[in-house]
Amino acid sequence: MAFPWVAASLLFSAVWAIVRFVTRIVLPPSHLPKNIPTIPFYYTLLALFKEVDQEQLYHKYLKQPLEQWGAVNIFFGGHWNVLITRPTYMAQVLKNDEDFPKAGNHVKNPDSVLALYTGENVISAIGETWKQFAAIMKPGLQSAIDASVIARNAHILVDLLMQDQKRNAASGVAILDLVQAYAISNVSESLLGARIDALENRKNPLLQLQKEIKPKIFNPIHLNFPILDWFYIPSREKAKQLVKTFKTELTALIRQGHRHECQLDSTNLGCRLLAAHNTGQLSEYHLQQNLLITFVAGHENPMILILSNLFVLADRPYLQEQVRREVHSLPPSERTQPDALATLPLLTSVIFETLRMYPPLSQIMNKRTATDVILSDDIILRAGTFTGYNGYSTNRNPEFWGPDADKFRPSRWGETVEDANALFRRATSKAEFITFHGGKRTCLGQKWALATHRVTMAIFLTSLKWRLDPTWPRMMTPAGPLMPKNLRLELETLSIED
Ligand code: HEM
Repeated sequence: MAFPWVAASLLFSAVWAIVRFVTRIVLPPSHLPKNIPTIPFYYTLLALFKEVDQEQLYHKYLKQPLEQWGAVNIFFGGHWNVLITRPTYMAQVLKNDEDFPKAGNHVKNPDSVLALYTGENVISAIGETWKQFAAIMKPGLQSAIDASVIARNAHILVDLLMQDQKRNAASGVAILDLVQAYAISNVSESLLGARIDALENRKNPLLQLQKEIKPKIFNPIHLNFPILDWFYIPSREKAKQLVKTFKTELTALIRQGHRHECQLDSTNLGCRLLAAHNTGQLSEYHLQQNLLITFVAGHENPMILILSNLFVLADRPYLQEQVRREVHSLPPSERTQPDALATLPLLTSVIFETLRMYPPLSQIMNKRTATDVILSDDIILRAGTFTGYNGYSTNRNPEFWGPDADKFRPSRWGETVEDANALFRRATSKAEFITFHGGKRTCLGQKWALATHRVTMAIFLTSLKWRLDPTWPRMMTPAGPLMPKNLRLELETLSIED
């Protein structure tokens, strides 16, 4: 007679455990603030079930609550988080870095494939470890740029795109793969000092590995439920193996590129990291993770910016022509010089406006409160609360940018380069423009990214005219990095008169 009772109690325990597990995921935990809205759990799942555009999702589900409350509770990356967007709150977050330390994937979801990939590095580390990484890497990221490397690669990119265009005379070309290869060639050669010939050799093994890894890393199911990586799933085991191979191969390539002894005072970032490892300042693990994050941040963000900038100018042929004329106003020898290009007001405003409206990292959820914090006397965040920010929303605050904050209007940056740079600094310091984060942990690659982007755009503008391929279904990516999805352009070589 005891058996049915045992079975019933086992069944009850199992059901109770499942219900508890599901409610823990579906409902926000009790320590999250009650005086801000909670975005329904299903918001996170939308990208799993239908083709969505993250801009449209934002306008439908997030814009109104974020504009009204400045922060919401939201499920993301396997956890409930507080997403903070109001600039006054964000200014507090960026200023008080010690209250809002980073909590990267290796802290949030330590057993996930994503954590294995990104690990502890200069972007995710905190405290003394971060200081040490930054001291090693900053001089390499901010040293003078050899623009001839970027210009050469940009000319190869333009030629390859035109070859694709000629092959597809009837329609436009998909540009993502070649722009990615271009960005990889730039970062590997210019920052890491060992060239990955991704542009000339589309079968380059590191490029191929990267293409295999990306869909596995950004698989929406695993991004939202990293807990699945706890279990033995053959495809995830394969993903882990690929990630390990990629890190080892990348490190071997950088070592090969620097066969001479590297010194700590080198201006090359790859060399500086190798020297720090040789002198015992960096473990093999930290060497690999910092090389990897340089590779990832150094090619993905620039790639996304190029795609978004080509998109906005394809959509506005008149503006494209105006910027082209401005670049042509420089003597030919200066058209690939970052310093000369930085004196052009329209090019500068177009780039800043693209970065404002389409921040490549539109939403980042990688902080955790170290102590109880009150945001502007309004919202209580208990110690240990995961938080994040959404640059797409913050950068469009109508109180700062005006009622047309959702409109692409480069003229808002003023008439001169001095106006544009002053507004860039003011908006960044007030956390009204957080594309590059801000505060103590501001992007260390910003200078390199802007200089190389100016050269890229100048070479596009002086070599090609482009417009949107009318067959391209105008759409932004569904989640993750924000960019036009699988952008297709129709390209035309410039004639002499142009
Ligand atoms: C358009 C280009 C870029 C954008 C929009 C961008 C944006 C950002 C953002 C938002 C962060 C903060 C990330 C966080 O909250 O965890 C960041 C940090 C960082 N970025 Fe960039 N980035 C760009 C290009 C680059 C490039 C080319 C590099 C070169 C490797 C780079 C290196 C870094 C580093 C090292 C940090 C960490 C700074 C620190 O915490 O001390 N970035 N970037």
